[in-house]
Amino acid sequence: MSVLIKNGRIITASDDYQADIFIDKDKISIIGENLSIPADKIIDASGKYVIPGGIDPHTHLDMPFMGTVSSDDFVTGTRAAAIGGTTTIIDFAIQTIGHSALEGLEIWHAKAEGKTAIDYGFHMILTDTEGDKISELKTLINEGVTSYKLFMAYPGALYMDDGNIYRTMRKAGEHGAIVCMHAENGIVIDEIVRNAVADGKTEPKWHALTRPDRMEAEAVHRTIAIGDVAEVPVYIVHLTSAAALEQVAMARNDGQAVFAETCPQYLFLDHSYYEKENFEGAKYVMSPPLREKWNQAELWNGLGTGNLQVVSTDHCTFRFNDQKQMGKDLFTQIPNGAPGIENRMSLIYQGGVLDGHISLNKFVEVTSTAAAKIFGLYPRKGTIAVGSDADVVIFNPNRKETISVDNPITHNMNVDYNAYEGFEVNGVSETVLSRGKIVVEDNKYVGNEGDGQFLKRGLFSD
Ligand code: URP
Ligand code: ZN
Ligand code: ZN
Repeated sequence: MSVLIKNGRIITASDDYQADIFIDKDKISIIGENLSIPADKIIDASGKYVIPGGIDPHTHLDMPFMGTVSSDDFVTGTRAAAIGGTTTIIDFAIQTIGHSALEGLEIWHAKAEGKTAIDYGFHMILTDTEGDKISELKTLINEGVTSYKLFMAYPGALYMDDGNIYRTMRKAGEHGAIVCMHAENGIVIDEIVRNAVADGKTEPKWHALTRPDRMEAEAVHRTIAIGDVAEVPVYIVHLTSAAALEQVAMARNDGQAVFAETCPQYLFLDHSYYEKENFEGAKYVMSPPLREKWNQAELWNGLGTGNLQVVSTDHCTFRFNDQKQMGKDLFTQIPNGAPGIENRMSLIYQGGVLDGHISLNKFVEVTSTAAAKIFGLYPRKGTIAVGSDADVVIFNPNRKETISVDNPITHNMNVDYNAYEGFEVNGVSETVLSRGKIVVEDNKYVGNEGDGQFLKRGLFSD
């Protein structure tokens, strides 16, 4: 199959120019002016942006968590991602406590193989690297899993103490891998939670009130300090607050290899959402929680200046009508997580570019290129260049949509609410190619289960 994309405005993290693109099978083959090459399919992209497919390096599909399983699996989640203009995800495989990480990886391969609409990779959530288990890190790297996520939160579940964190980081550093951190001080937070519950504080808003941003900033600081001593690059996932960002900015200023992502929920939603009536605050129960609104300007500024490099989604869906209801009487039982995989590109274009916080090039960088570079996928993914995978989005900047669970252009996720219900976006991914195959055409999914392939990623140090 060959595709010729004509008359588009090509935007990468560094360039902005008018040209045609010829795609031969799965790769970008020629980029030039006024190409006239016979092709199986010609797409007229006049008046539209032609951008690299989005990369969302933080998703939780089909994930067992807090007594249930996230409702989007690798079929529904990756289909929704494609419709929203994302052509690569990096999901989190989990090492169950007491088990081998390689066993966990096998389980996640079985969940995803032959199911996905787009390409995918895995990070590994490590919960136990004691004894012989530390040697599995090398095997994971050989398997193309070159980044690990550790948790300073969720004691008794995914939590790892500082000694284990140091050992894991040191080994990752020796191998040239990168360590992602869920940075919240879970030990202190659990104590605050116990006190709140004892005082009869049970509504969803107490989820946020028991997880202060100071405990995020402290954990970010600790991650950076341990990472420095362990000589490993660190990547802070789902950073939410100005206080946490300040820690990242200071370390980067000192020249340390520290990276961080934020997510649309922290850029667009705020603490007041927990006050919604009829238990609707539970829709926004996630960790870390939504913060006071003033933090949003600081996060946008962080993206603009480069102290934050990536916008991921932390897509982790639980239905409101049954799954979130598990915590009807007690906020600690509400499964943590929210949807976003489908709306990220439009939201960041609207809130970032149109609202004047970031340039068009920066939009591409934070939604695609930076993640490709940090997680060992560049230049195969994350740019439009000869030889790169033909993961291409034709983005219509003139199309307006209202995000809603009832709008099939904005909501195909397997969850019964949209966190951005009623938000207007000017700018929509209309046609999406994944390795040269058209998987979304005029906003309609036209791909097949299993179009996506597993990505063996390179090392950060490469
Ligand atoms: O609330 C969240 N973020 N759920 C997903 C798990 C995690 O910590 O990323
Ligand atoms: Zn997390
Ligand atoms: Zn997450």
